Amino acid sequence: MGGGSSYTPELIEGFINNQDALPVRDLYLVDIEAGRNKLETVGNLARRMIEKAGVPIKLHTTFDRREAIEGADFVTSQMRIGMLDARSRDEKIPLKYGLIGQETTGAGGFAKALRTIPVILDIAKDMEELAPDAYMINFTNPAGIVTEAVLKYSRIRTMGLCNLPIGTKMQIARLCNVDVSKVSIEMVGINHLNWTTRIVVDGVDITADVLNKAAGASGLTMKNIPDFGWDAEFLQSVGALPCSYHRYYYMKDLVFEDMNKAFLDKGTTRADDVKRVEAELFELYKDPMLTIKPPQLQQRGGAYYSEAAVNLIKSIYNDTKDIQTVNVRNNGILPFLPEDVSVEINCVIDSQGAHPVQIDTPVPPQIRGLLQMVKAYEELTVKAAAEGDYLAGLQALTLHPLVGSAKLAKQLLDEIIESNREYLPQF
Ligand code: G6P
Ligand code: MN
Repeated sequence: MGGGSSYTPELIEGFINNQDALPVRDLYLVDIEAGRNKLETVGNLARRMIEKAGVPIKLHTTFDRREAIEGADFVTSQMRIGMLDARSRDEKIPLKYGLIGQETTGAGGFAKALRTIPVILDIAKDMEELAPDAYMINFTNPAGIVTEAVLKYSRIRTMGLCNLPIGTKMQIARLCNVDVSKVSIEMVGINHLNWTTRIVVDGVDITADVLNKAAGASGLTMKNIPDFGWDAEFLQSVGALPCSYHRYYYMKDLVFEDMNKAFLDKGTTRADDVKRVEAELFELYKDPMLTIKPPQLQQRGGAYYSEAAVNLIKSIYNDTKDIQTVNVRNNGILPFLPEDVSVEINCVIDSQGAHPVQIDTPVPPQIRGLLQMVKAYEELTVKAAAEGDYLAGLQALTLHPLVGSAKLAKQLLDEIIESNREYLPQF
């Protein structure tokens, strides 16, 4: 779902490289009519990549998602309802109120959730009817919130996935100069708000050492998030490695200043940068000689997400029982959060799905506090989006640490609903 995305060549590359363990035979790229040109361009590139690699994947492009879902084993979702223009609004509206404008965190992510949840629940309904045993692997952002909506309002099997855990592992491997295959990490939290609480290399716990090395280091972030280094003393006080997105919370002032400056100087946000990168990517994709994923895709924040996706699908298909970090139902693993919410944690992956691994490290109050607050925001957001519950939306925004004001929440909520009218059937 969202097959015309500029990210699709990532996935195609992953499927091509893993044909032995994951013999994908029929691959459907689904998009909406408005994305016709993108789907055509991406579909043609995908066909060239498959042909060049000489693998027996049959590629289909369609606007009919029910045709694609029928009989599917896996449905992956990477949609952006309202496309980049909607993202641009999500990022710009909060800035007007003096708040951070980010596509998945804070008011921007809230708006994206409102647009996305009705669509994902429709897809889930089609799956209940046409592919009831299939897994939905959801990368659509805000991935934790979207996954929670599917867990709560549908009967299908689903997991949410993000490239941040795999990216964090790579960053740690680079920082410590070891091969990424040697690094294992324990993560505690929710999507785009998780802490690496334990880092083990070759059986040795090197968490304290990594926290020392991480202080002031650059390169510990995703491409879409400013590379501000962490303060040494602050890292000691957290006692765990924060994720890239923690900068929006722990460095709120600095990040806001940085964002606002770009916005005031150039009138742009990340959505505008991404629009430019996308336009370049699509020009490259059109080149009939291109038969591989172009390296320029690495400039995007979602780099390596296909590795995470293919690893996950491969382990389900092969009943591998290895450990991966995914978004699943809490089920008491984090006892200070409700049972039925989504959390992003280490799970054993087998043919029956993802089974959360017990967390060894006690979760300290500095992690628990922020987590409970943002999770409560997410629960309220799911309710607002799935049921069109305005009052839940008002509380969600009021509670969010990047808003934190009833007055601002009300103004934001009204503006978000007004400017997204055509995408919000629930309101
Ligand atoms: C990160 C996140 C993804 C998000 C991406 C945005 O990697 O994990 O969930 O989609 O960044 O990157 P972009 O290049 O679109 O700003
Ligand atoms: Mn993500």
